Amino acid sequence: MADQLLNVSALSAGTEDKPILHGVDLAVGAGECHVLMGPNGAGKSTLGHVIMGDPAYAVTGGSITFDGADVTELTSDKRSLAGIFLSYQAPVEVPGVPLYSFLRTICQMRPELKTTARKFRQRVGEIADQLELDQSFLMRELNVGFSGGEKKKIEMLQLLLLQPKLAILDETDSGLDVDALGIVSRGIQAYREQVGGALIVITHNTRILERLSVDRTHVMVHGHMVAEGDASLIADIDANGFERFERALGERDEACVDCPGCPKAGDAE
Ligand SMILES: Nc1ncnc2c1ncn2[C@@H]1O[C@H](COP(=O)(O)OP(=O)(O)O)[C@@H](O)[C@H]1O
Ligand SMILES: [Mg+2]
Repeated sequence: MADQLLNVSALSAGTEDKPILHGVDLAVGAGECHVLMGPNGAGKSTLGHVIMGDPAYAVTGGSITFDGADVTELTSDKRSLAGIFLSYQAPVEVPGVPLYSFLRTICQMRPELKTTARKFRQRVGEIADQLELDQSFLMRELNVGFSGGEKKKIEMLQLLLLQPKLAILDETDSGLDVDALGIVSRGIQAYREQVGGALIVITHNTRILERLSVDRTHVMVHGHMVAEGDASLIADIDANGFERFERALGERDEACVDCPGCPKAGDAE
């Protein structure tokens, strides 16, 4: 569909020796909020990383188009410049690089965000206040020694500063206390309201979704997209788990020859 912001079509991908995603389809329109759910090991993070262009994974079939262009072969920095943002499940620590310099550098690389040092300082300060993040954090080394909650707030800071067209949030809410969860959830809302960006939220935590108006929910099992529905699917999964989706996948006709762990290959544990 030409009018979608993101169109993942029949995408298969994996590491060098392990196929992980099998013919995945996912379409996200501009400004829409999508939720991606699935049991541990289903391939949700892999899908996020493959959309972002992580070189750890190779695409073996299908395509990814973003904002009207085929990005399947693009490097992740080009995808980032095109407007895709991925918040990592476990953000990396970068010793020696102060957070503030990191943010300044990435903004200066983008023509639409380039600004004077003074205006930049002001903008970062405003967002830090909004997220209740002490400004002393800005001078600390990127993610080094930060608590889980602080790392997540810094991701929200990046999200509001970079204003991507699509943000993929990979379990941004995991391990957060109630207060931090509230701040992250307000950060996500601010992104939607101020930036009008689209979201793919990967989560097990339905609390973070309570404040979001969800357009579509997708369910992934063993690297396959097995169901899609509206927001009511979240409550259904919360109450009943993923078992019926796993069973349904096992009953599908097509063979899944390349995935030994998949119930479609007939040898599920
Ligand atoms: N870089 C990698 N190297 C080897 N195996 C990987 C790698 N990334 C993911 N996997 C495997 O792919 C499967 C899907 O993982 P992942 O995408 O992290 O699942 P989820 O995020 O749904 O829990 C798991 O079996 C995981 O071990
Ligand atoms: Mg994951």
